[in-house]
Amino acid sequence: MRLNRSELAVPGSRTDFFEKAARSESDIIFLDLEDSVAVNEKKSARKNIIEAINDINWKKKSLSIRINAGDTIFMEDDIKEILKFTSNKLDMIMLPKVNSAKDVLKLDKLVSKYEKKYNRKKRLGFEIIIETGLGLINVESIALASKRNEALHFGAADLAASIGARVNNIGGVNESYGVLENKLKNKRNFFLNDMWHYALFKILLTAHSFGMRAVDCPFGDFSDNLGFKAAAKSAYNMGFDGKMVIHPKQIDIANKLFSPTNEEIKEAKQILAQMKLAEKKGKGAIAFKGKLLDIVSIKQAKNIVEMEKKILKGIYKK
Ligand code: GLV
Ligand code: MG
Repeated sequence: MRLNRSELAVPGSRTDFFEKAARSESDIIFLDLEDSVAVNEKKSARKNIIEAINDINWKKKSLSIRINAGDTIFMEDDIKEILKFTSNKLDMIMLPKVNSAKDVLKLDKLVSKYEKKYNRKKRLGFEIIIETGLGLINVESIALASKRNEALHFGAADLAASIGARVNNIGGVNESYGVLENKLKNKRNFFLNDMWHYALFKILLTAHSFGMRAVDCPFGDFSDNLGFKAAAKSAYNMGFDGKMVIHPKQIDIANKLFSPTNEEIKEAKQILAQMKLAEKKGKGAIAFKGKLLDIVSIKQAKNIVEMEKKILKGIYKK
């Protein structure tokens, strides 16, 4: 599994952003042909992206291209041209607005056809964006539809549009979504709720149950670092591998927040050591810092230690 703490979106029409993106520390870059590119720029964006993949030094980053959705006139030509002209520096194709397993099967069929036709040596992986009501309903069959599926991404902006949710800030909180304390109270507090909790949990659950990465949505207000940090921290604690980012200044924050802290690593190593001792003594459960540790603590600690190893190795590219 590759590192996916940060995944920078770069519009295919903004060639002036390419070099800066390549120099950044983002784990993954996705060059976009979809919603950040106007219809009359789709063809030139395709050409820009192909040149960029081939000619720019992207260092060790994983590279992905977000193509246009399955129900557009652009999808097949996007795939055909990308597979015909890009070098094997390309790692993945990202498919937006996936509604059902059928959309993934169509993508797999086209990618397999052109990989063969153009004699490509490297098999491309898929990143799937769950961002429609139907996509969320069908997320399990979508995840199982292709062996190339590597990650499920959450698209909050499109999901809001798809189901009629009233939000005007991409990936941020909705000030009006929450509960007011009972009227019997003197002072009634309003508690914000996260309207995307169900979607996030479902995507995380599905991705991690089927061995895929779970990637949280972009946070559109790039002047609000605190808001971005809160969203990233919450996603990390839920179990997400990372977040899509729409501005270079969000990269370092995401890399940091989706990495275990030094304290977490230290404690995980202590837990593993303590549990090893316990095992020698034939014990399954022990007390550690006043809390219970048992066999499941080993699994949790191993997750953290393995993540640290992956980070120390650098940005892993298949
Ligand atoms: C991302 O594509 C989104 O719709 O939030
Ligand atoms: Mg979207």
